[in-house]
Amino acid sequence: MAYNVAIMGATGAVGTEFLRILEQRNFPLASLKLLASHRSAGKKLTFAGEELVVEELGGNSFKGIDLVLASAGGEISKKFAPIAVAAGAVVVDNTSAFRMDPDVPLVVPEVNPQDIKTHKGIIANPNCSTIIMNVPVWPLHKAAPVRRIVVSTYQAASGAGAAAMAELEEGARAHLEGRPFEPTVLPHKAAFNVFSHNSAVGEDGYNEEERKMGLETRKIFHAPDIRIAATCVRVPVLRAHSEAINLEFAEPMSEQQVREILADAPGVTIVDDREKSYFPMPLDATGQDDVLVGRIRQDISQDGQIGIEMFVSGDQIRKGAALNAVQIAEML
Ligand code: A2P
Repeated sequence: MAYNVAIMGATGAVGTEFLRILEQRNFPLASLKLLASHRSAGKKLTFAGEELVVEELGGNSFKGIDLVLASAGGEISKKFAPIAVAAGAVVVDNTSAFRMDPDVPLVVPEVNPQDIKTHKGIIANPNCSTIIMNVPVWPLHKAAPVRRIVVSTYQAASGAGAAAMAELEEGARAHLEGRPFEPTVLPHKAAFNVFSHNSAVGEDGYNEEERKMGLETRKIFHAPDIRIAATCVRVPVLRAHSEAINLEFAEPMSEQQVREILADAPGVTIVDDREKSYFPMPLDATGQDDVLVGRIRQDISQDGQIGIEMFVSGDQIRKGAALNAVQIAEML
């Protein structure tokens, strides 16, 4: 069986990665339709050696389409995902539009593949930082329940889209050449700088990204009681997110146990060479499917071996977005 697939937001950072992943994984395609804004209509993108013309997204884009991979922003998904479902398609949505909707499954295939079956036309792909944290934390949580997670992120420009990646490069060039540069996509200069994640800060002082990591993880794990506190920060990295993760378990969990569990965990590669000081790095994670996990150690601030510290890096555009969505589509 082969499927008629449409990519909503095909010209974006995640959209172009969808093309690469569908090709690399030999996704069974009957046809592929590339949708973006009127700005990109007529533009050509290459897929499997063939040039495909980008079309403007509209109400009539979904006739005969079986599967929509959506990554054109939350407002676009809110408007067009229901139209696609009404036309008979299943939508795997990469935006935050439907993630917390109780009728929409929120899925990381390594964690809760069984939830896919409950869909009513839309399946949500979690936030990129959530996915990258969930892949290594889930197998540990299954072995001994995690009671509390404290996570700090080091997030790449790619999470804010292709324009933010270009802005980081341009800002770095301007800085090195001594030219003035004012960012227009991100709220602050990204090159040679670090700043709090560019999402709205609520009354409690947490920004949207930090809130998403908590709410989404509880939904994906079916664990409403896990306590999660996140600090989300942008760093001048192009496309892989890193995270320092502190876990508190309900039962003792030794460093050795963590290593054994993660050595067999799907989607995880351990990179943890203390002698060579070689640990997960965003440049190494870039282009990889697995989340790199290292700096695995017992949290010395906790008695009774109930705390674990680790540092992870995962490709935000691949596992954090496009790959996770294509894996969901494959399971469908
Ligand atoms: P376009 O390139 O034509 O603006 P990113 O996440 O990298 O910023 O990419 C966003 C994606 O969403 C792009 O493919 C972009 O297309 C698409 N997009 C943005 N606004 C719209 C819109 N109003 N209608 C359709 N696609 C849109």
